[in-house]
Amino acid sequence: MAVNLVIEGQKLTDLETPLVAVPVFSDGGASGADFAVLDAAAGGRLKAIATEERFGGESGKTLLVHTPDLGAKRVLLVGVGPAAEFQPLEQRKFAATAAEEATRRKLPGFAVALGGADARAIRHATEGVLLGLYRYDTYLTVDVEPRSVERAALVVTPGADLGALEPAMHRARRASEGVLLARDLINGPPTEVTPRRLAEVAEEIARDERLEVTILDEAQIRDRGMNLLLAVSAGSEEPPRFIHLTYRPEGADATTPQVALVGKGLPFDAGGYNLKPTGSMEDMKVDMSGAAAVLGAMKAVRAFAPRVVVHGIIPSSENLVSGRAYKPGDIIRSLNCKTVEIMNSDAEGRLILADALAYAEKLGVQKIVDLATLTGACMIALGPHIAGLFANDDAWRAAVQHAAERAGEDVWPLPLSKKLRAMLKSPIADMKNIGERWGGAITGGLFLQEFVGKTAWAHLDIAGPASSDKPEPGVPKGGTGFGVLTLLELLANEV
Ligand code: BES
Ligand code: MN
Ligand code: ZN
Repeated sequence: MAVNLVIEGQKLTDLETPLVAVPVFSDGGASGADFAVLDAAAGGRLKAIATEERFGGESGKTLLVHTPDLGAKRVLLVGVGPAAEFQPLEQRKFAATAAEEATRRKLPGFAVALGGADARAIRHATEGVLLGLYRYDTYLTVDVEPRSVERAALVVTPGADLGALEPAMHRARRASEGVLLARDLINGPPTEVTPRRLAEVAEEIARDERLEVTILDEAQIRDRGMNLLLAVSAGSEEPPRFIHLTYRPEGADATTPQVALVGKGLPFDAGGYNLKPTGSMEDMKVDMSGAAAVLGAMKAVRAFAPRVVVHGIIPSSENLVSGRAYKPGDIIRSLNCKTVEIMNSDAEGRLILADALAYAEKLGVQKIVDLATLTGACMIALGPHIAGLFANDDAWRAAVQHAAERAGEDVWPLPLSKKLRAMLKSPIADMKNIGERWGGAITGGLFLQEFVGKTAWAHLDIAGPASSDKPEPGVPKGGTGFGVLTLLELLANEV
């Protein structure tokens, strides 16, 4: 059941709600006019209890105060740090904190006090509420927490121009639904979320959002010459799929610029004959997170009405072992006719992406961005929260980095260092599929670069941020849906 989310222009003292969350600044600052108003209405009770409990508005701290005399029966004081650091993006964490508290207390509804919020603040608060209410409980039968929250209100100053804020909420709602779809797909068990299932989801999105869709089955993948995708899939009973969704803006013609979003879609990566050891394989259902991000973005793309044609492209295959699996030593010809010597069957993502990037190039797009849980090395380089950003074009790299910043997702540039290109040299094929030990995220990027020619291309290695093992407000354990918001921001900025 979807939550009923509304914007209300109301005085906090007139609110009727089981809980209202208000931000509290650690430097007193303009210590939220909202806090002051509620405190006065509660006869100074909020301030008194905050002092008693030594609650000083420190970021990450909260304090719940019962206020039986107010229409808002509970006030959740949410520490947000110094006033100057409370930027619109911080509304996401603030609102998610409120959503999680309301859920924990099994309340039917809650409100978040947003004061004189602008469209950006509304956008991020909307994301916070919807992402904060998310949980993956499809398979829980015992300790199931009922979804108590039916209603959430974003409360802004009376008289605010709701007509200007509503569209921001609508877009943020659609974007958040995209993130939630991505999370569900990532969290789903790998035997359920197969390449065929991803293709079905793409077809559902195409139907609901009026997008064009082409799904290539195994025979069609073979006919096209996507032999790298076939090779990775060879060890599986589940057949591969190649998914291509297209959004066209109103009035698009042959001259309309085109962008391709490409996502690695490995429902499960056992490593193939270079089998992953215990400890490295358990999480490998996340290996379709790039595909999930592309599907999530394509689901929401129409709400953002970009003025470019957007292609969502997903090569999807498992990477397993069997008597038919591809082997180290195999030499495979890619869609763009380059030959690849397989030196490690666990470096499979770059193989299926190589065919997908070559396919995107053949479409004649001007810009490509791919998302892939490509290398553990990228997590070694940047830690678990930051995606590595590689690009062959400075302006496109800057555009992706800017979009990620605006979306509140962490990415950081890494170089496509030409010096390491030699590591991919093979004496008997055009290249090998792995480099040496050092610089593994870079050699992964350099490998992909061989398949994009001169098209502006950016590659996000999301092996780290695709999933989380420590819950944070708005981001529970498991699949995060990382990338959806960045992609939508990027598309919205395309002209
Ligand atoms: N899917 C993995 C990368 C990965 C690691 C994703 C950790 C998420 C979390 C990828 O296919 C892989 O196995 N990469 C190898 C590359 C190596 C063989 C060159 C790796 O990182 O070890
Ligand atoms: Mn692998
Ligand atoms: Zn993989």
